[in-house]
Formats: sequence, structure tokens, C-alpha cells
Amino acid sequence: MRKRTRRSGRRNNYHLLIAAGALVFSLAFFPRHAFGLVDERTPLQNRLALKGAEYVGSEDCEACHEKEAREFKLSTHSRISLPDQKGPSHGCEMCHGPGSLHVDAGGGRGVHIVNPKKDPSTCFNCHLDKKAEFRLPYHHPVLEGKMSCSDCHSAHGMEIRPWSSTTLDDTNEACLKCHEAQRGPFVWEHEAMREGCTICHKVHGSIHDKMLIVRDNNLCLRCHTQSNFQHVGKSYHEDRLIRGSCFSGGGVGEGCHTAVHGSNFHNRLTH
Ligand code: HEC
Ligand code: HEC
Ligand code: HEC
Ligand code: HEC
Ligand code: HEC
Ligand code: HEC
Ligand code: HEC
Repeated sequence: MRKRTRRSGRRNNYHLLIAAGALVFSLAFFPRHAFGLVDERTPLQNRLALKGAEYVGSEDCEACHEKEAREFKLSTHSRISLPDQKGPSHGCEMCHGPGSLHVDAGGGRGVHIVNPKKDPSTCFNCHLDKKAEFRLPYHHPVLEGKMSCSDCHSAHGMEIRPWSSTTLDDTNEACLKCHEAQRGPFVWEHEAMREGCTICHKVHGSIHDKMLIVRDNNLCLRCHTQSNFQHVGKSYHEDRLIRGSCFSGGGVGEGCHTAVHGSNFHNRLTH
């Protein structure tokens, strides 16, 4: 008797396992059925708008979006995709999602197409690490919808990067259009600015306040270490350095050089 119960108990467990397996299986594949050919990784509201849409390839887009198509041919993302292929990693649709419904409807704003200016999720299909960066404690508010990748990156243009290797001016320009206060001109410039904002700042997000690369003396000592160290610049710094950060803080002796971007008042960038 005992034996039997145990056996049937085991059988029940077995059935339970199969049922659970089937549930997991169907859950995993549900979105594919529900949303037709739309890529599962497309954001939900877009998925609904794109329900039933298929990938048509870039040629269809070119007829109506001549300007974007022309620019895009020379871009980074054009180089990584095959012009005559369709699918989630090719041409316009890698960022705009499958376009058949948009095309059939004769196009239009908000008509069955993804605009990554409003929702960068399609970018994260390939650049997942960037999503993590925007989730760090200090970050540009892209996921919050207050700004977009295209504020700094030119998605269709030849250079998607906000600056090219040839001109560092573009570097800062991409940032200064919003951060006017750092533009200057300052009576006493900080030469570090010529290296670009990214010498000190992370651009997407950081674990450090003000999106700094590091938030202590090391930020400054990368450039200001000299052979007669303990001297920084023209003055002896040993007792000052141990007290805290060169540029911020509230303690006595901390935060001497608060005007890190340049100063109109003092050549030592103290205010
Ligand atoms: C028959 C013409 C036509 C075709 C084909 C077409 N579009 Fe459009 N599309 C439009 C029009 C018109 C607009 C509205 C533009 C405007 O108002 O400036 C538009 C808007 C867009 C927008 C902006 C949407 C928004 O909500 O801001 C995107 C992105 C877009 N199209 C991408 C594509 C892509 C990708 C393809 C190819 C799969 C494509 N279009 C094919 C006519 C077309
Ligand atoms: C690497 C991703 C990417 C690819 C590939 C891409 N786009 Fe875009 N597209 C964007 C982004 C980002 C925006 C939003 C730009 C903005 O307005 O700030 C955009 C905006 C648009 C718009 C709306 C412009 C407006 O006036 O609001 C159209 C139309 C468009 N793209 C068409 C195309 C076409 C056609 C192709 C292929 C030839 C293409 N895109 C390929 C990222 C991409
Ligand atoms: C289908 C995959 C895919 C999608 C979607 C995609 N990218 Fe990319 N992206 C790539 C690949 C691959 C590279 C590397 C190209 C190279 O190194 O030449 C790249 C390069 C870049 C670069 C330049 C990197 C460098 O070192 O110069 C930037 C910036 C970028 N992508 C931003 C975006 C943005 C913003 C979007 C969305 C609007 C987007 N990408 C959508 C695959 C993608
Ligand atoms: C505030 C401006 C800004 C915004 C907003 C921004 N980026 Fe960037 N991004 C940059 C800069 C500047 C670089 C170059 C960083 C460097 O060289 O140190 C860069 C580099 C990149 C790179 C290539 C370098 C790498 O680290 O692999 C990718 C890919 C990229 N960004 C994707 C994105 C995506 C996707 C978004 C939107 C979700 C986005 N960026 C939003 C400024 C920005
Ligand atoms: C489209 C406008 C825009 C562009 C372009 C832009 N930023 Fe920002 N930046 C913002 C906004 C918005 C915030 C968030 C401000 C807040 O939360 O109060 C911010 C925050 C910051 C902060 C933190 C400021 C603080 O008080 O905590 C730093 C540092 C910064 N950005 C540097 C940069 C750099 C470097 C670039 C160029 C790669 C850049 N920004 C490009 C809009 C922009
Ligand atoms: C030499 C390093 C360095 C460089 C280069 C640099 N920053 Fe900063 N930045 C800092 C430091 C340090 C802080 C934080 C100051 C604090 O917390 O008291 C800061 C703070 C900021 C803030 C927050 C507001 C403020 O003034 O505290 C913004 C915005 C900012 N930087 C933008 C930029 C931009 C844009 C560029 C390029 C044009 C740039 N920074 C270049 C070191 C630098
Ligand atoms: C990319 C390199 C670099 C970084 C990083 C850097 N600086 Fe500088 N800084 C320079 C250069 C170059 C000069 C001009 C030559 C000199 O005086 O050493 C300068 C000059 C100065 C001066 C004026 C010195 C004087 O006596 O006239 C001060 C103060 C200063 N930096 C403070 C800082 C602080 C604070 C930090 C950290 C937030 C910092 N620097 C980070 C490169 C850098």
C-alpha cells in the first residue's frame, strides 16, 4: 500500500513538472505569437503600434525619406548592415522597427513606426551595455525621456560620434550647447578643457556625482603629478592633499579649486 501511494505521488510530481514546463514554454513563446513578426525586444507601446508589421528593407523608405536615406549611406550603421537585406539588423529598420504598416499607410508621424528620439529601446537591442550606463546613480536623463541619444549622436550622419578624431572642438561643442556655463571665455582658462570634457566626465552615466570619472584627488593628479611631487603647480601641497578633494567638499582646506572649468577671478581657479 505504502509503496503504491509513493509511486503515484511521484507520478503526480512528474505531471506537475510537465505542466510547469509547458507553461514556461508557452510563456516564453507567447509574445512571438501575439505580436506576429515584431521583434520581442521592441518596446511595448511600439510593439502594439507595429503589431503585424513586417520588415520591408530600406529601399521602400528611400522613396519618401530621400534626405535621411542619402545621409545614412555613409554612416557607421549603414556600414554594419547589408543594403539589400531585410530584418532587425539591417538598414533603416534596425532602429525604426519593421516598416510595412507605415509604408502601406503612406507614412506619417506616429504612424506605425519607431522614432528613437522618443524611445531608444531599439538602440539597446545592440547596445545593451549603454542601458546599464544610463541606470547608474548619476546619469543624463535619457531613460526618463528628458533627452535622447540624438542630442549627442547623429544617427544618420557620417559620424555617429559627437566628435571626430580630427577636431576636438566638436567634442566640447556637443556638450556646450546645453551646458553654457562651462563655455567661458574665462580670464583664466584651465588648459585641461582643451582635452575635452571626457577627460574628467563620463558621458552617459557614472557612479560618481557630477558624472565624474573619479571623485577625488586622483582626477586632478593624473595631470598634475610632477617629479618634485608634493609640489603641485608652484606650491607645496602635502598637507592640503591629505585633507580631501582638490575641487569640492565642505571641510577646512577642502575644495580649494572650485572653478575647475576656468575662472574670471583667480589664476589658481579658486573661485
Ligand atoms: C509613402 C511615403 C513613405 C514611405 C514609403 C515611408 N515613409 Fe516614413 N514618413 C512619411 C511621412 C509623410 C512622414 C511624416 C514626416 C513629417 O511629417 O515630416 C513619415 C515619418 C517617418 C518617421 C517619423 C515618425 C515619427 O513619429 O516621428 C520615421 C522614423 C519614418 N517615417 C521612417 C520610415 C522608414 C524607416 C520607412 C521605410 C520602412 C519609411 N518611413 C517609409 C512617409 C513615408
Ligand atoms: C542607428 C539608428 C538609425 C538608423 C539605422 C536610421 N535612423 Fe532614422 N532616426 C534615428 C534617430 C535616433 C532619429 C531621431 C532623430 C531626432 O530627431 O533627434 C531618427 C529619425 C528619423 C526620421 C524622423 C525625422 C524627423 O524629422 O523627425 C526619419 C524620417 C528617419 N529617421 C528615417 C530613416 C531612414 C529612411 C533610414 C534609413 C535610410 C533611417 N532613418 C535609419 C535613428 C536611425
Ligand atoms: C543592429 C544593431 C545596432 C543597432 C540597432 C544600433 N547600433 Fe549602434 N552600432 C552597432 C555596431 C555593431 C556598432 C560598431 C560599428 C563599428 O565599430 O564600426 C555601432 C556603433 C555605434 C556608435 C559608435 C561607436 C564608435 O565607437 O564609434 C554609436 C555612438 C552608436 N552605435 C549609437 C547607436 C544609437 C544611438 C542607436 C539607436 C538610435 C544605435 N546605435 C542602434 C550596432 C547597432
Ligand atoms: C550627453 C551626450 C550623450 C548622450 C545623450 C548619449 N551619448 Fe553615447 N556617447 C557620447 C559621447 C561623448 C561618446 C564618446 C565617449 C568617449 O569617447 O569617451 C559616446 C559614445 C557612445 C558609444 C560608443 C563608445 C562606447 O562606449 O562603446 C555608443 C555605442 C553610444 N555612445 C551609444 C549611445 C546610446 C545608445 C545613447 C542613447 C540611449 C547615447 N549614446 C546617448 C555622448 C552621449
Ligand atoms: C541636450 C542637452 C544636453 C547635452 C547635449 C549634454 N547635457 Fe549634460 N546634462 C543635461 C541635463 C538635462 C542634465 C541633468 C541636469 C539635472 O539633473 O539637473 C545634465 C547633467 C550633466 C552633468 C551633471 C551635472 C550635475 O549638476 O549633476 C554633467 C557633468 C554633464 N551633464 C556633462 C555633459 C557632457 C560632458 C556633455 C557632452 C558629452 C553633456 N553633458 C551634454 C543636458 C545635456
Ligand atoms: C579637469 C576636469 C574637468 C573637465 C575637463 C571638465 N569638467 Fe566639468 N566638472 C569637473 C568637476 C571636478 C566638477 C564637480 C565640481 C564639484 O563637484 O564641485 C564638474 C562639474 C560639472 C558640471 C556640474 C555643474 C558644476 O559646475 O558643478 C557640469 C554641467 C560640467 N562639469 C560640465 C562640463 C563640460 C560641459 C565640460 C567640457 C566643456 C567639462 N565639464 C569639463 C571637472 C571637469
Ligand atoms: C588633462 C590634464 C589635466 C587635468 C585632468 C587637470 N588639469 Fe589642471 N591644468 C592642466 C594644465 C596643462 C594646466 C596649465 C599648466 C600648469 O599650470 O600646470 C593646468 C592648470 C591648473 C591650475 C592653475 C595652476 C597655476 O598655478 O596657475 C589649477 C589650479 C589646476 N590646473 C587645477 C586642477 C584641478 C583642481 C584638477 C582636478 C579637478 C585639474 N587641474 C585637472 C591640466 C590638467
